[in-house]
Formats: sequence, structure tokens, C-alpha cells
Amino acid sequence: MLIKVFFQYLQKTVTLGLFLGALGLVFVSITASAKPFNLGPGKCMECHKSEYGVWEKTKHATSYKKVHKSKAAKAIVKAVGGKRMKKTELCMSCHYTQTLKKAGAKPKLAAGISCESCHGPSSEWITIHNNYGKGKTVKTEDAAHKAERIKSATAAGMIWPSALYDIAANCNSCHGFSKQVLTSENISAMMDAKHPINPDFEIVAYSQGTVRHRFYPPNVTENQKMSITDMSRMFVIGQAATLVSATENIAKSDHAVYKAAQEKRIATATAVLKSVQSLAPEVGAFLVTPTTENGRAFAAAIVGKDLSSAVSGLLPSKFK
Ligand code: HEC
Ligand code: HEC
Ligand code: HEC
Ligand code: HEC
Repeated sequence: MLIKVFFQYLQKTVTLGLFLGALGLVFVSITASAKPFNLGPGKCMECHKSEYGVWEKTKHATSYKKVHKSKAAKAIVKAVGGKRMKKTELCMSCHYTQTLKKAGAKPKLAAGISCESCHGPSSEWITIHNNYGKGKTVKTEDAAHKAERIKSATAAGMIWPSALYDIAANCNSCHGFSKQVLTSENISAMMDAKHPINPDFEIVAYSQGTVRHRFYPPNVTENQKMSITDMSRMFVIGQAATLVSATENIAKSDHAVYKAAQEKRIATATAVLKSVQSLAPEVGAFLVTPTTENGRAFAAAIVGKDLSSAVSGLLPSKFK
């Protein structure tokens, strides 16, 4: 009898063990499949009509219906061994937005470069980023809750607009050619087929023209201009992100055009960053070791600083 009970007990624990084990597997597979994915700009439009209205007129949006039809595009696709730009993963990684209905579903081409290309795939942060807390509104949310909200959304893959270093590094992943998918081989093929690369991409010049959408804090209906102080800081942080991107890229390829572009980016960024040394001595350590981590630390160190006396002369005059 005692033995029987013991066996029953053993069986139960084994079953329980297997059950917990299976649960563990399920849990692991849930976390593994929680890789963030895009929901598409239509989802963002439900709440961000003003930003959407700006975006749909930009080249990022309009290019969707055009770029693949050009002769240039066809030559470049062919050079990398593809047939159609809209079906070639390499091209899609920079030119298009692929969405999923839910985790594991088949990807669908939804737009050109869109909201989530710049703010991060939103499947894991969409319900976090706008959650002020139970019964709270934008006006009554306390500061600690807001800080936690930004932190959680960021951990879930959101690139918050105030995280300027990460915003700029993300523009550079496409405009500076830092994407992971790039190899020495496909870079050479693209450059030989005359894919454009512009070493003069600079975040202020490129974000404060057609791309500018600055309607927050909520209820501001006008697309606001950026102040010279804010633009100066964005300019300097952009150069820091460029220096990191170009320094990492230089080892990726020996192609003359690509290498020359990366060298030019390094030279320009270094000169700008040296010019702020007296106002922001923290730049010294960054220049010695230009890594992502140090770039973020430098960006954090200059929050609230006015660097305009050093760099405002370099800002695009049409935005001043
Ligand atoms: C259900 C409504 C809703 C949807 C859908 C939504 N948002 Fe938001 N979003 C908000 C609200 C409300 C805020 C303001 C939060 C705050 O006060 O900081 C916000 C804030 C933001 C911010 C930060 C603004 C700031 O304070 O700097 C960004 C960026 C953003 N949303 C992007 C997106 C993108 C991209 C999408 C689509 C993938 C999206 N949102 C979808 C409601 C929404
Ligand atoms: C690393 C990101 C990246 C990848 C990968 C990429 N492109 Fe581009 N492409 C860009 C950027 C950025 C521009 C805009 C360059 C500029 O004008 O500054 C561009 C511009 C172009 C243009 C010129 C568009 C115009 O309006 O004149 C064509 C054509 C093009 N790409 C085709 C392709 C094709 C085809 C592929 C796939 C083989 C591809 N691209 C892959 C980033 C990329
Ligand atoms: C996912 C890749 C990607 C990201 C991220 C990205 N871009 Fe682009 N951008 C492109 C491509 C590709 C083009 C060229 C489209 C074409 O010509 O068909 C482009 C074109 C542009 C243009 C139009 C240039 C012209 O010649 O008219 C501007 C402005 C621009 N980007 C600004 C930015 C800024 C600012 C950021 C970051 C805040 C950014 N982009 C982030 C891929 C990207
Ligand atoms: C080319 C990259 C890029 C694209 C595409 C883009 N954003 Fe942004 N977004 C930015 C940058 C950079 C900032 C912050 C810069 C600033 O303060 O001007 C920003 C700021 C914001 C903000 C806070 C400022 C505001 O207007 O309220 C919201 C909200 C936002 N974006 C939502 C969106 C939505 C929704 C879309 C798509 C319809 C979108 N963004 C497309 C780069 C982008």
C-alpha cells in the first residue's frame, strides 16, 4: 500500500515535472516569437493623424509607388542577383516596411519607409507607449510613471524621439549603410551598379525639411519649428552617431566608393565634434573611443547644453 502511494506520488511529480517542463518550453517559444514586428503606418494613423499627414507627402512614403520601376533600380537588383526590388530582402531592408498580422504570420509589403522604420517595430510597445496609467490623462500622469512608460516602451523596441542618439544611429543604418545585411560582396555589387551613397547625410538637414513632424506635447496643432539650441544639439549628436557608424563600416568593404564615403563621414564628424570640445569636454573621451555606448553617454551628457555658439554657423540656413 505504502509502495503504491509512493509510486502514485512519484508519477504525479514526474507528470508535474513534465507539465512544468512543457510550460517552460511554451514560455520559451512565446518569448522567442516575441520578436517585434511592424503593424504598418495605417495603425499609427488611427491616433497620429497630423504626423501621418506630413509623412505621406515625404519621399519615404511616395517612393513606394515609384522607385522599383526606374532603370537604375532594375540594374541594381540585377547586380545583387535579385529579380524584383519588392521581392529582394536586401532592398526591402532599407526601402520598404513589411508588416505581420500577428507573430509568425507571413510578412506583407505595406509601405515605403514609414513610422516604424524610424520609431521601431511596434508590436510589443504599441499598447505601452501611450498608457498613462489607470484613470490618468496626459495632464495627471505623474513624472515617475512617465519615466517608467518611456523605459518600458524602449525596452520593447521603441525608439523614443527624445533618444536622439538612437534616432540618428537608426537613420544612419540606412543612409550611412550600416545595416547588418550588408556584406563586402553585396556592397561591391550595389556600388558597381551605381547605387547612390551620400556621405553628406546629416540629421538636421534631412529631418527639419519635408520630414519634420513636431506636434507634441499633445494638442499642439501646428507643426513646430525646432529652436536653434535644440537643432545645434541634434546636429552634434547626429555627428556622434555618424562617427560611430562610419568607424564601424570602414572594415566592411574595400570598395573605393564606399570607403571614400565612410572616410569623408569620419573627417566631417570629427571636425564638428572637436569644435564643441570647450563647451562639452565630455566629447574628448568619446572621440578616443567612438562606440554606441559612449555615443549615448555623450548625448546624455549634453542634455540641456547650448552648443549653438560653436555649431550654429554649420546649420542649414533655411531652418534658422
Ligand atoms: C491608440 C492611439 C495610438 C496609436 C495607435 C499610436 N499612438 Fe503613438 N502615442 C499616442 C499617445 C496618446 C501618445 C502620447 C504619449 C505621451 O504623452 O507621451 C503617443 C506618443 C507617441 C510618440 C512619442 C511622442 C513624444 O512624446 O515624444 C511616438 C514617437 C509615437 N507615439 C509613435 C507612434 C507610432 C509609430 C505608432 C504606430 C506604430 C503609434 N504611435 C500608434 C497614441 C497612439
Ligand atoms: C543600407 C540601406 C539600403 C539598401 C540595402 C538599399 N538601398 Fe537603395 N537607397 C538607400 C538610400 C539611403 C537611398 C537614398 C540615397 C540618397 O539619395 O541619399 C537609396 C536610393 C536608391 C535609389 C535611387 C532612388 C532615387 O530616388 O533616385 C535606387 C534606384 C535604389 N536605392 C535601389 C535599391 C535597390 C534595387 C536595392 C536592393 C538591391 C537597394 N536600393 C538597397 C538605401 C539602401
Ligand atoms: C529604413 C531605412 C531608412 C531610414 C531608417 C531612414 N531613411 Fe531616409 N531614406 C531612405 C531611402 C531608401 C531613401 C530614398 C528613397 C528614394 O529616393 O526612393 C530616403 C530618403 C530620404 C530623404 C529624401 C532625400 C531626397 O533626396 O529627397 C530624406 C530627407 C530622408 N530620407 C531623411 C531621413 C531622416 C532624417 C532619417 C532619420 C530620422 C531617415 N531618413 C531614416 C531610407 C531610410
Ligand atoms: C524618417 C524617420 C521618421 C519617420 C518615417 C517618422 N518619424 Fe516620427 N519622428 C522622427 C524624428 C527624428 C522625431 C523627433 C525629431 C524632432 O523633435 O523634430 C520624430 C517625432 C515623432 C513624434 C513626436 C513629435 C510629434 O510630432 O508629436 C511622434 C508622435 C511621431 N514622430 C510619430 C510618427 C508617426 C505616427 C509616423 C508615421 C506616420 C512617423 N513618426 C514617421 C522620425 C521619423
